[in-house]
Amino acid sequence: MRLKSLFLVFFGSSALLSCIAAKELIAPEEMGIRRAPLEEEILNPPKFEYSKTPPGQSKRFKRAYENAPPQIPHSIEGMFPITLKNNPCLGCHMPDVAKQVGATPIPPSHFIDFYHLPKGQAPKLTDIDKARWNCLLCHRPQANVQPVVKNLFKPEYRTPEAQEKSRLHEVLFEGVGTKK
Ligand code: HEC
Ligand code: HEC
Repeated sequence: MRLKSLFLVFFGSSALLSCIAAKELIAPEEMGIRRAPLEEEILNPPKFEYSKTPPGQSKRFKRAYENAPPQIPHSIEGMFPITLKNNPCLGCHMPDVAKQVGATPIPPSHFIDFYHLPKGQAPKLTDIDKARWNCLLCHRPQANVQPVVKNLFKPEYRTPEAQEKSRLHEVLFEGVGTKK
């Protein structure tokens, strides 16, 4: 009987102690990456601004990895909405005009019907693939924000040129098994 109560006191107090320790170790505002109490819904995220530099004056970013979609270095203010009939991006990025305005031409991969790739075919289209019409699905403007979690990813490029130019259209079938 005495031994049993001793056990109870021992285990009871150690459970209590670990509760207190846990409480001291992880405060609600320390949980998660937003550093705020979990029950708090109204937050004031830091203010950020997209680049105001107009096209023609911005500096291209290095590609995030080989054949990654390049991020948009210039302001895209006034370029909305992008509709089926109107896409201001094409005015500077279509291959026939891009060189004159100093823009990167839309690559051949955007003029290919990707639906046939599993059959080992890459039929060329006369116009840009409609699945790629909304450029902002994959290409995004950048803002001056500090990442909440440091990115430790280090890209490896097979050639130095791959840091600033894609050649996906040349390697479309590389390492891909195709259904015949
Ligand atoms: C008035 C011409 C113009 C318009 C319109 C325009 N761009 Fe650009 N874009 C450029 C130029 C020029 C560059 C090269 C960087 C510079 O000189 O500012 C560029 C760079 C880029 C890049 C980076 C390319 C690389 O090689 O890193 C992307 C991505 C891009 N633009 C996407 C877009 C998208 C998406 C739109 C539509 C929302 C758009 N651009 C509208 C002229 C334009
Ligand atoms: C479904 C995603 C997607 C959409 C939508 C898309 N792109 Fe891309 N874009 C990519 C990827 C991925 C790459 C890099 C690999 C490649 O060349 O396809 C790329 C590459 C580019 C490049 C760099 C070419 C080079 O030589 O390095 C330009 C410029 C570009 N896209 C412009 C555009 C424009 C303008 C639009 C809209 C008309 C657009 N993209 C729509 C995914 C997309």
